Amino acid sequence: LFGFKTNKVSGYFNPIQHSTEDKLLLPKGFQYNVVAAYGDVINAAGDTFGYNNDYTAFFPLNGRNSDKGLLWVNHEYTNPLWVEGAAGKSGYSADQLNKLLYNQGGSIIEIYRDGDGAWKMDKNSQYARRITGLTPFQLTGPAKGSKAVGGASTVQGTFANCSGGITLWNTVLSCEENYENTAEAAKLNSTHYGWVIEVDLFNPQWAVRKHTALGRFHHENSAMGLAADGRVVVYMGDDEKDACVYKFISKGKFDAAKEKANSLLLEDGTLYAANFKKGTWVALTIDAVKKAVNTPGFKAPSLIGKTADRLKAQFQSQADVVVYASEAALILGATPTDRPEDVEISPFDNTIFIAHTNNDNHGNIHGHITRFFEKDNDLGALEFDFEIFAAGGRQSGFSAPDNLTFDSNGNLWTVTDISGSSINKGVHAHFGNNGLYVIPTTGKNAGEALQFASAPTDAELTGPSFTPDETTLFLSVQHPGEQTKEINKPTSLWPHRPGDSQPRPAVVAITGFKL
Ligand code: FEO
Ligand code: CA
Ligand code: CA
Ligand code: CA
Repeated sequence: LFGFKTNKVSGYFNPIQHSTEDKLLLPKGFQYNVVAAYGDVINAAGDTFGYNNDYTAFFPLNGRNSDKGLLWVNHEYTNPLWVEGAAGKSGYSADQLNKLLYNQGGSIIEIYRDGDGAWKMDKNSQYARRITGLTPFQLTGPAKGSKAVGGASTVQGTFANCSGGITLWNTVLSCEENYENTAEAAKLNSTHYGWVIEVDLFNPQWAVRKHTALGRFHHENSAMGLAADGRVVVYMGDDEKDACVYKFISKGKFDAAKEKANSLLLEDGTLYAANFKKGTWVALTIDAVKKAVNTPGFKAPSLIGKTADRLKAQFQSQADVVVYASEAALILGATPTDRPEDVEISPFDNTIFIAHTNNDNHGNIHGHITRFFEKDNDLGALEFDFEIFAAGGRQSGFSAPDNLTFDSNGNLWTVTDISGSSINKGVHAHFGNNGLYVIPTTGKNAGEALQFASAPTDAELTGPSFTPDETTLFLSVQHPGEQTKEINKPTSLWPHRPGDSQPRPAVVAITGFKL
């Protein structure tokens, strides 16, 4: 037995201390190897691994549960210093735009655990391919072909892919977050981005798609589960200051025998946003929005920044509701919260964990993790209660919680995202570099954070995911050296490849000691 699978994490690893070293630090007895870094060739066609890897998800291959599989990796954004170069006076050249779009999206790589214990890429894989800002996508759901998206049924590419989730039918969902800069630079219609996309790793013929029924906002991730009656439920965060928490409930019910045809469930259903004060899920429907905006004396919520007349004109159909989902949510009284990022469903008790990373608009500097209790423990419920499960700060030991993942012992693995300009400064100095923390959700240590990893300089750790047997943890090291101002004076050289003069975002595989 290797690894993490244990009742008492603290009994099996000695938590590390906060650090400012330009290293990926792990507890004694654990090691990592780089599986894929920016620019690495991933297949025989010569496709290369994109920039700023984020979410990872492991899909076992050939029945080999935990030592061979496909890894989906998100690529969130680029750094002009090392990817496309600075824009000229008239914007980007065609070649620069191509680099900007190609190095975002996702990578599908085939990986295996070699005899020496390290994870390696199979560059002759028949599955390895890229999904990029240039790949054509189909739209599904209410906004497909609508006026709100300029009549489009297919759109160009995906980018700003932050986190994601795995469906019950073994496809991946990937979430478009801060899409604006790339869409503007490439002169693409902004309403074609900010969606949840779906990809079948195993079948390149299966059309990649954007599910508009899940709403358009700054999507962080998606967490899928089942309502008591078998409908599919998808929880989602909107990573913006003063933004809402969402869930989508499908109209139809999940049927395992239908396999990937279950994807149709994501095309028809109801999108809800959370009202924390009332403990209710508010349905975002055109009828409700029309009723609200046409009520005499309607005032546009100040967070939207549009006039009441403009909102009245804007909302005409359900397509408008999903395209402007964050505005519909505020109009209908959903609660703005402090940058809701990852959402995970506890596999133990169906409670919902939401990372609220921070919000300096009103003093939530270190963030917190919120826990929802759905009525009757049913993910299909329209009422909930909640608690602050853990608060960031010196006492808990972490600041700015972001991506979350559960292990099979009820521990919540939490990475932190202190912004580059704040790391190791002011009230953040205490925490050192960004890290990965393990927080038990049950037992007497519930809510206590133990540090498992420390990131290299300027980096954020993102996308933690386990193999099914939990002997390997995949982790993205994103934007090492991001504060670099001059290309020949990088603030980080991680992963310190011999002869390399630049830092490289990379996915690592972490394996443990023999128990
Ligand atoms: Fe891309 Fe919300 O972090
Ligand atoms: Ca994130
Ligand atoms: Ca983040
Ligand atoms: Ca990030």
